[in-house]
Amino acid sequence: MKKLYIETYGCQMNFADSEVVAAILKDMFALTDDIEKADLVLINTCSIREKAEQRIHKRLQELESLKRRHHGLQVGLLGCMAERMKEELLRTEPVLDFIAGPDAYRSLPQLIADSRDAGPRFNVMLSEEETYDNIMPVRYDVNGVSAFVSIMRGCNNFCSYCVVPYTRGRERSRSPKTILAEVKQLLRDGFKEVTLLGQNVNSYYWKDEAGEMTFAKLMAVVAEMSPDLRVRFATSHPKDISDELIETIARYDNICKYIHLPVQSGSDAVLKRMNRSYTRDYYMGRVRKIKELMPECAISTDIIAGFCGETIEDHRQTLEVMREVGYEYAYMFKYSERGGTLSAKRYADDVPDEEKTRRLEEIIALQGELSMVSNQRDVGRTFRVLVEGASKRSQEQFYGRNSQNKVIVFPHGTEHPGDYIEIKVTDCTPATLLGVRV
Ligand code: SAH
Ligand code: SF4
Ligand code: F3S
Repeated sequence: MKKLYIETYGCQMNFADSEVVAAILKDMFALTDDIEKADLVLINTCSIREKAEQRIHKRLQELESLKRRHHGLQVGLLGCMAERMKEELLRTEPVLDFIAGPDAYRSLPQLIADSRDAGPRFNVMLSEEETYDNIMPVRYDVNGVSAFVSIMRGCNNFCSYCVVPYTRGRERSRSPKTILAEVKQLLRDGFKEVTLLGQNVNSYYWKDEAGEMTFAKLMAVVAEMSPDLRVRFATSHPKDISDELIETIARYDNICKYIHLPVQSGSDAVLKRMNRSYTRDYYMGRVRKIKELMPECAISTDIIAGFCGETIEDHRQTLEVMREVGYEYAYMFKYSERGGTLSAKRYADDVPDEEKTRRLEEIIALQGELSMVSNQRDVGRTFRVLVEGASKRSQEQFYGRNSQNKVIVFPHGTEHPGDYIEIKVTDCTPATLLGVRV
C-alpha cells in the first residue's frame, strides 16, 4: 500500500481532523511517520496568527526539495489556511498538488486522483451540515490513554480579531448518537480520557425525536458511561458557561475540575471592540460561581496583548483580572491582524510592535508568578493521577495528569499508562509538579 505522512499545525480541532483524514484515506494509504518514505504528504494548517502562516510557507519551501528528490510524491494542503487563501495558494506555492478546506475532506480521494492525472486541484467549499459524524477517526500518534472527540464544528461568534468563523464556517453540532458510539469504541479500545472538542463547545445543541441535548446533558451522559473514564472539554466561551454546566461539572467526580475560559482582555472597552459580548464583571461572576461550587477547580485562559486601541490602562486591567482570577495557566499572544476580519476592517492596528511585545512580556511574567503560586499551593497535597507514560527526560520518570490538568512527574514503579494512582506532591517548578506514589 502507498504511504501517507500527515503533519498537523494549530489547535486540537485540527489534530482531531487529521485523524478523520487518516480514516477517509485508510483504504488507499498506510500511515508512516517517516516523511522520506511517503507517497503523499498532507500539511494540515492554521491561520490564527500571521506567524502560524509564515511557518507553513517556510515548511512548504522545505518540501520542494523533498519533492524534487522523490519523483511522484504528492503534496496536499489542508485546514484553515486552505480555506483562507483558497486557490491562490496553488499559484504561490508550486509544491502543492491540491488543497482542501476543513469541510472538504470527503473529497480527498478524488482530489488526489484528479491532481495526479490532470494537475492542481482544490476544494474549499464550506458546508452547513458536515460533521464527519459517521467517520471513526484513526487514532495515530496518541498515547492510548487520552483521545479527542470532536462534537461540533465551526463558529458563529465572530470575535472581531478571529479568522475561525471564515475558515471553519457556521457552527453545527454532531449527533449525540455518533458521539456516544465513538466514546464507547474508545472505552473498548482501553482509552481512559476523552476531551470533547469544539471552538465553542458549550453552545452544543441537538434536537430530534429522542429529545433535546444540551452540552451539559451530553457531558453528563458521557460521564455516566464509565466511572473510570475522565471527561474534559475545550473550549468554552464565557458567554455560554451556564449554571447548569458548572453544576454538572461539580456533580460528577470523573468530569475534570479544569475549565479553559478565555478572557482575552480585562478591559470592557477592549472586550467590546473584540465583540466578545461579555463584560469583565460578567466574566468575574462566572469565575466566582465556578470557585463557589468547586474551590479546587483550575482555570486557564487565552490573552491577547496589544489589540487595536488598547491603552496602558486597558492593559493594566488585563493584569488585574489575571491576578484576581489567579489563573493556573494561560496561552498568551500578541494581536496579529488577519485580513477580512471585522477588526481589520474597522480598527487601526495601532499598538506598535515593540509595545505589544513589552505588554506580552509583562503578561507572561505575571502568569509565571501565578502558575508558581498555584503549584506551590499543591505541594503536600495528594492527587489521583492518570498515568500517561515515560517523561521525555528519562525512562525512570513517569508522568500523568491530575483532574486539574496539571502534569505530575514521579519515579516509575510498577504502574502502566492508563492506570490511576495516588501521588503526593513533594516539589514543583512553575510548569510541573513533582511527587511520589502513596
Ligand atoms: N474558540 C476559542 C479560541 C480559538 S483561537 C475561544 O473562543 O476561546 C485560540 C486563541 O487564539 C484565541 O482565544 C485568542 O486568544 C487567540 N487569537 C485568535 N485570533 C487572534 C489574532 N488575530 N491575534 C492574536 N491572537 C489571536
Ligand atoms: Fe474565534 Fe471567537 Fe469563535 Fe473563538 S469564539 S473561534 S475566538 S470567533
Ligand atoms: Fe488555527 Fe483553524 Fe484551529 S485557524 S487555531 S487550526 S480552527
